[in-house]
Amino acid sequence: MLTDFVRHLFPRRVRRKDLRLRYTFCLGGMACTVLLVLLTSGFLLLFHYQPHPEHAYESILALETRVFGGHYLRSLHRFASHAYLLMLFLHSLRVILTGAYRPPRQLNWWIGFALLLLSLFTAYSGYLLPMDQLALWATQTGMNLVAELPLGFLVKGILVPDAVGAGFSLLRFYVMHILVLPATISALVALHFYRIRQDKGILPYL
Ligand code: HEM
Repeated sequence: MLTDFVRHLFPRRVRRKDLRLRYTFCLGGMACTVLLVLLTSGFLLLFHYQPHPEHAYESILALETRVFGGHYLRSLHRFASHAYLLMLFLHSLRVILTGAYRPPRQLNWWIGFALLLLSLFTAYSGYLLPMDQLALWATQTGMNLVAELPLGFLVKGILVPDAVGAGFSLLRFYVMHILVLPATISALVALHFYRIRQDKGILPYL
């Protein structure tokens, strides 16, 4: 099975027509590739980050100044997060413009929409982790906005039981950012790909 997988990644021949850039621009595929970069760089960052209000900022400074390639690793994660969200927006736009949200692909549209919302929330939850002034004030502003939504005070109460940047809120943002959200997104991406197969591939027209 492993040999088949490697052969699949490095085929000896590729048909010319398969290399043609089609109307999807492979935006979903690119989102998936950037997601892999995000997950890998995020995993490596875990070895240096300390999710504690008094040590988080220092651990980021140490990563930037004392760890070989640390600045590059952090920049890669940040850059990949921007590229990922951009790919998602462009992919969603393509799906809307080609009408791919219509039956029989409705379910996959909703799975994709959930992926978009979860991805935005993942980016937001990661924003607090460096614990610098930008992180604190941006998260505080976001939480104030959430509190104004219907039932928003419940969400705020769960995410920030103490104060933004205090022990429990940092711990909860951290667990959401490194475990709950990436695991849910990975499961939904697998479901998204499964549904593409079930729907007999991408749209046949255009
Ligand atoms: C991690 C996020 C996502 C990944 C990795 C992903 C991946 C893909 C891939 C590889 C395809 C095949 C065609 C293509 O490349 O465009 C596809 C199709 C599709 N995606 Fe996504 N997608 C994601 C998010 C979304 C979002 C945010 C939406 C919409 C809100 C969405 C809705 C759809 C639909 C409806 C199709 C079928 C399109 C067709 O038949 O033409 N996906 N996705």
